[in-house]
Amino acid sequence: MSADVPATEAGIVILGAGQAGFQAAASLREAGHAGPLTLVGDEPWLPYQRPPLSKAYLAGKTDAEGLALRPAAFLAEHRIAYRPSLRAEAIDRAGRRLLTDDGPVPYDHLILATGSRNRPLPVPGADLDGVRQLRGLADADALKVDLARVGRVAVVGAGFIGLEFAAVAAARGLHVTVVEAAARPMARAVSAEMGAFFRAAHREAGVAFAFDAGVSEILGEAGRAVGLRLADGSAVPADLVLVGIGVLPNQEIASAAGLAAADGIRVDALLATQDPSISAIGDCARFPTRFARGLAADGTVRIESVQNAIDQGRALAARLTGRPAAYDAVPWFWSDQGPNKLQIAGLAAPGDEAVRRGDGNAFSVFRFREDRLAAVESVNRAGDHMIARRLIAAGTPLTPKQAADAAFDLKGLALARP
Ligand code: NAI
Repeated sequence: MSADVPATEAGIVILGAGQAGFQAAASLREAGHAGPLTLVGDEPWLPYQRPPLSKAYLAGKTDAEGLALRPAAFLAEHRIAYRPSLRAEAIDRAGRRLLTDDGPVPYDHLILATGSRNRPLPVPGADLDGVRQLRGLADADALKVDLARVGRVAVVGAGFIGLEFAAVAAARGLHVTVVEAAARPMARAVSAEMGAFFRAAHREAGVAFAFDAGVSEILGEAGRAVGLRLADGSAVPADLVLVGIGVLPNQEIASAAGLAAADGIRVDALLATQDPSISAIGDCARFPTRFARGLAADGTVRIESVQNAIDQGRALAARLTGRPAAYDAVPWFWSDQGPNKLQIAGLAAPGDEAVRRGDGNAFSVFRFREDRLAAVESVNRAGDHMIARRLIAAGTPLTPKQAADAAFDLKGLALARP
């Protein structure tokens, strides 16, 4: 049926209206794509920014309007057909159509920007009232209401969501306990040294921690959560439980259509799946990159960050408008936790050598792997972060000794032309 639809009518369809999907749409127009362009999202709102949800929005410092990536007029001006509240059920690859709960949407090229969803906590009581996660605007709105009426909060997971949320809750004077399975905070992303700094900072702000701790049950009374039961038998009383234990990529629609997907939809360096009419970007995509050297055996990663979503949206738009180039952006990331700003450039692995530069509340940890600078974590040292992005992008040789030497001119090294 859809084979009869002329190509000019189908155009490019983007599934997922988050940061990656929206960026691809905007960049396609900017790059001169003149044909039809459809952006499909399952949420009711205009495409919006997620980072403030666990920070300024939760703290009441910005409203929902302030979250929109662009006003509605932008979509109209750029002829981006935005289809909110629409769920895609399947991809009909042979017929080149996206099958949705509101009928088929034909495409010439399909961009999967389906993002990720929160990992559920597989314990009894996880469905009680008062157990929440934070991913979208609706979650943040519910949490804002909760924060105004509860006294004690238990957070499961000392990752980015858990710690940003804990900082906001503690700043409101709530009693906060963070329960983490690993021995330290943000173990996936930062060194032990940086983790120790943030643990101390949160403790100073009144947050209590339980590390190496498992949750065996969420305790309830009359259908509402009243606390956690930990694996060692102890209890953490709480009127609100926030679960932030990582995400799962939304890849099922791709794998059901026969596309390779294992912890992410598999794409090549041009962000193409094995179907030339389908690409994938953002949280849902697993791609090869030189920055993953020594990280994964096959040299691929899946990255959950705003930078990655934006840069992949741009890179794909360039390819689809005739300027193909391998995706090669340096990964970078930030997290605001209370008064402290964490910035990360590059991709670290737990075994990387760690060298500190700077002291007190403003320092960086340089991470080395296979004799190369792999990543730099900075707290309250924005200058180091910018330098690190340049050094890692260029692959500039740097030794751990130079990185640790406060007198060594890192900026000069970063700015020097090879
Ligand atoms: P995460 O992967 O950063 O942290 C999850 C934490 O939960 C880890 O420390 C892990 O050890 C722990 N954990 C896992 N299972 C557990 C269990 N059963 N009990 C206790 N602890 C357990 O993921 P998070 O914080 O959920 O964040 C979700 C996503 O949102 C990530 O993609 C993250 O990068 C993104 N995000 C980014 C932010 C930023 O850029 N600043 C802020 C908030 C979220």
